[in-house]
Amino acid sequence: MVKEGEVGGLDKEALRRILEKPPQLHSGADFGHGSKEDLVSWGIQASFLQYMSDVVHPGDVTLETGSGLSTICFAILEAEHTCVTPAEQEFDRIRTYCHEHGISTERLRFVALPSQVYLPRIDLGGRELDFALIDGSHAFPTPLIDYYYINENLKIGGLLAIDDGYIPSVGILHAFLKSEPAYELVRIDSVKTIVYRKIAKTFYPNDWPDQRFNKRFPDFSFLPIPQRIWAWTVSRRAVQWAYRVVLRRRDKD
Ligand SMILES: C[S@@+](CC[C@H](N)C(=O)[O-])C[C@H]1O[C@@H](n2cnc3c(N)ncnc32)[C@H](O)[C@@H]1O
Repeated sequence: MVKEGEVGGLDKEALRRILEKPPQLHSGADFGHGSKEDLVSWGIQASFLQYMSDVVHPGDVTLETGSGLSTICFAILEAEHTCVTPAEQEFDRIRTYCHEHGISTERLRFVALPSQVYLPRIDLGGRELDFALIDGSHAFPTPLIDYYYINENLKIGGLLAIDDGYIPSVGILHAFLKSEPAYELVRIDSVKTIVYRKIAKTFYPNDWPDQRFNKRFPDFSFLPIPQRIWAWTVSRRAVQWAYRVVLRRRDKD
């Protein structure tokens, strides 16, 4: 049955409602701080939800770490969606909101576990992800762990969004992805949410030297300055020496 405001499968009215009047679905109390009554929204910005409505289609296989407005948006867009957060209470609030506003939760799969616990054993039943959003725990190294397992399951051509790029533990992931030929930057939404498209398989047969991220090798910036200068001098000499040996051998042949 097509509802009022529903165009081509998209319930525009439901989308407009969460953009204009976002429900408060989060609480510090779910994580042991603050009062239970203090509901707030840690929700992603409207411009990103609007963008999702352009690129996520009914039946797409999607996943997010964290839950909230984005989860409701995935439900409205009729994606086959997996949502991972340890805060089960958020799921109850999302279900209640969807129920009260006639949004089907049939295609939502809630996983009440920290992403770093669930993702290593994720089973998508042989399907690959069309779209993923990393917006769960932002504490280092969780965004990187989320990326590792999502990348394993993201199809070539699929989109990966990471929020919030200005948190250094997320910024590190961006520093890697922007150096990675398997990903291309698609969009930066509202100076915080970065979207990439996977354009090739990530493949490192020789391990770390295959990653452009490591092209600054040898990087001695972790050393105190006097040792750094020493290490630089020694390593440069070692490289020059190896180069001379190679040249001498070549001249002999
Ligand atoms: C910024 S909020 C997500 C906002 C959501 N995308 C939205 O649009 O409303 C961060 C989320 O991370 C979840 N979270 C906290 N620790 C987590 C963990 N270890 N794994 C997955 N999710 C976690 C919280 O429950 C919360 O839903």
